[in-house]
Amino acid sequence: MFIPLFFLINTVTSWFSPFYKKRYWQYSDDQNNLLKHCAGMGPYVQGSGFGFDYDEIPMNLVVDRVFVFSRHGERYPTVDLELSLRAVYDKLKETKVDRYEGPMSFVEKWDYFITNRSLIEMETNTSQFSGLKDMHNFGQDIRQRYGEQLYKERSVMPFFTSGSQRVIDSSEAFARGFFDGDNNEELAKKMVIIPENKNQGYDTLTTGKSCDPYHKKNNYPHPYVPRFMKQEAMRLNKLSPGFNMTAADVKILAQYCAFELNVKGHSDVCDALSMDTFIEYEYLHDSEVYYTNAEHPYTFILGSVYVNATLQLLNEKNPEQKMYFSFTHDTDLLFYMNALGILDHQERKLPIGRIEFSRFFKTSELVPMGARIVLERLTHEKTQEKYVRVIINDAVIPLKSCQDGPSFTCKLSTLNRLFYEKLSEQQTFGDKCNVDKKYPQYLKFYWDWKQYSR
Ligand SMILES: *[C@@H]1O[C@H](CO)[C@@H](O)[C@H](O)[C@H]1NC(C)=O
Ligand SMILES: *[C@@H]1O[C@H](CO)[C@@H](O)[C@H](O)[C@H]1NC(C)=O
Ligand SMILES: *[C@@H]1O[C@H](CO)[C@@H](O)[C@H](O)[C@H]1NC(C)=O
Ligand SMILES: *[C@@H]1O[C@H](CO)[C@@H](O)[C@H](O)[C@H]1NC(C)=O
Repeated sequence: MFIPLFFLINTVTSWFSPFYKKRYWQYSDDQNNLLKHCAGMGPYVQGSGFGFDYDEIPMNLVVDRVFVFSRHGERYPTVDLELSLRAVYDKLKETKVDRYEGPMSFVEKWDYFITNRSLIEMETNTSQFSGLKDMHNFGQDIRQRYGEQLYKERSVMPFFTSGSQRVIDSSEAFARGFFDGDNNEELAKKMVIIPENKNQGYDTLTTGKSCDPYHKKNNYPHPYVPRFMKQEAMRLNKLSPGFNMTAADVKILAQYCAFELNVKGHSDVCDALSMDTFIEYEYLHDSEVYYTNAEHPYTFILGSVYVNATLQLLNEKNPEQKMYFSFTHDTDLLFYMNALGILDHQERKLPIGRIEFSRFFKTSELVPMGARIVLERLTHEKTQEKYVRVIINDAVIPLKSCQDGPSFTCKLSTLNRLFYEKLSEQQTFGDKCNVDKKYPQYLKFYWDWKQYSR
């Protein structure tokens, strides 16, 4: 009883105090938070970060530009994954057991969590982990943090979104949150939908779609082979006899748990599986994503298209807006993080033969549902020098190779130099990806968005 009370008092005093106060407590349950082990498939969860305070702007600096690059919110599973979730549900449901007992006893009254197939791949909107609500709150938060300084009332605000329905729905929800309480939403909101097609060339929020060679180049040695999941299947078969569960079933149930949380906010499956299962599943997924989307030989160039555009906007003297909001998929956030240098924190390649427990690269930290990269440009009040601060899932993450600004921020000029040096050492995106010359040869929608019809 003592500990939660202590926590409460601490939180309450910090709400009421007009001054910044440190918080400290001896109790920490972050590592046991299941959302920290859902491998990018589960509900949004803030990053653990390194202890910096997002609310504290470094001394003498003022935020004068903001660039947001976000994943869509919590969603239903994709078509392919849904087939395997349904198959394991059907297998367990159809098994005749003598008695429903042990961790799997819930199967007796278990209902499938997708009630209508038209919801597959769409945003969720039915529990505390509603994807649409999450994005709405995110839009509100951004407006509260930066709106007063960076948004001119009644001016038209574009929201850039890739063309999948769930991404469009997410950006709409964000926009509604951003304008919450304003009555000029319909006048000011401009949804700019960028098709997810190869013929967009460079002018895209899904560069992977413009790059056939990326998909042909296999960089993934082989999957991590789960060990614990066999033990987990044995444990479940002992405590809940009759289901004859396999390690493969256990793996799919770990995914089932994450998606059921997105939809319902709770899940009997999550409770039935041991924490070790999630930890192993997480690594199986992280190591795959690492080799296929994060540290693949093409990912720097795939992300460079976005980072180039971002730096152009941050360097511009008189941009039309001071805030840019883009919405796309987890893979594109990983490309972005690679090109920006965030993933340099993962210094060594992830091993495949064992779990690397001490790693920076965790999809639950980097790309949970609703993941968001926020770049602030900060200008020094006296010298006018410009700096960049990177916030990933509400956690401030200093760049590994650029900390020459106040409070471990990065000088914009240094970031420019590091990025363009690295870019100049590579084949261009167009050459490396065989982008047809008849398709757009640079990312231009941030500048010419007015031509889009919605
Ligand atoms: C499923 O959703 C679709 C589209 O919203 C709707 O037309 C249909 O009636 C729903 N089916 C059921 C069984 O609720
Ligand atoms: C999502 O849920 C909220 C609250 O129940 C509701 O007001 C809203 O219309 C829903 N949005 C969609 C797109 O279904
Ligand atoms: C489960 O496994 C046992 C032992 O291998 C076997 O006798 C039984 O028929 C299996 N049950 C089902 C439903 O497959
Ligand atoms: C970087 O952006 C600028 C401005 O949009 C564009 O002219 C240039 O071609 C881009 N470079 C690359 C490598 O994408």
